[in-house]
Amino acid sequence: MKIVKLFLAIGLLVANVGVRAESSSKPIDIVVHRSPTCTCCGKWLAHLKQNNFTVTDVVTDNVQAIKDKYGVTQQLASCHTAIVDGYVIEGHVPADDIKTLLKTKPKIVGIAVPGMVSGTPGMEMGDKIDPYEVVSFDRENHTQVFNSYEGTK
Ligand code: CU
Ligand code: CU
Repeated sequence: MKIVKLFLAIGLLVANVGVRAESSSKPIDIVVHRSPTCTCCGKWLAHLKQNNFTVTDVVTDNVQAIKDKYGVTQQLASCHTAIVDGYVIEGHVPADDIKTLLKTKPKIVGIAVPGMVSGTPGMEMGDKIDPYEVVSFDRENHTQVFNSYEGTK
């Protein structure tokens, strides 16, 4: 009987440590490539920092070269291109979607919010939020809806 109790105690201890490791999430490293003249980029960086990301801000006059390098097509393109844990993040993707990506680790190249959508993180325009989709893309340029937002009317 005593041994059973001991095992139970150890089990609880292990479970506890597991939970603690999960909740004390450590900062996520992300590298963001952006042009020096982009103001909405800076706001997106602030959004990331508020959501526990450690941002390496790489300013470049040729963001297009970065997009070409990482396979971001014209249809997917936005202002900045970020790299996190081997994934490409294009445009004003919400921090929560990046966290979902890192948790689920799908076999894709990355996720994008193409263009410049009003109401996305870093593109706030008062209360107005346009409906938008976060799309995933793979090496063959197949895109899929990763998450969608309804927006305000
Ligand atoms: Cu932008
Ligand atoms: Cu930007």
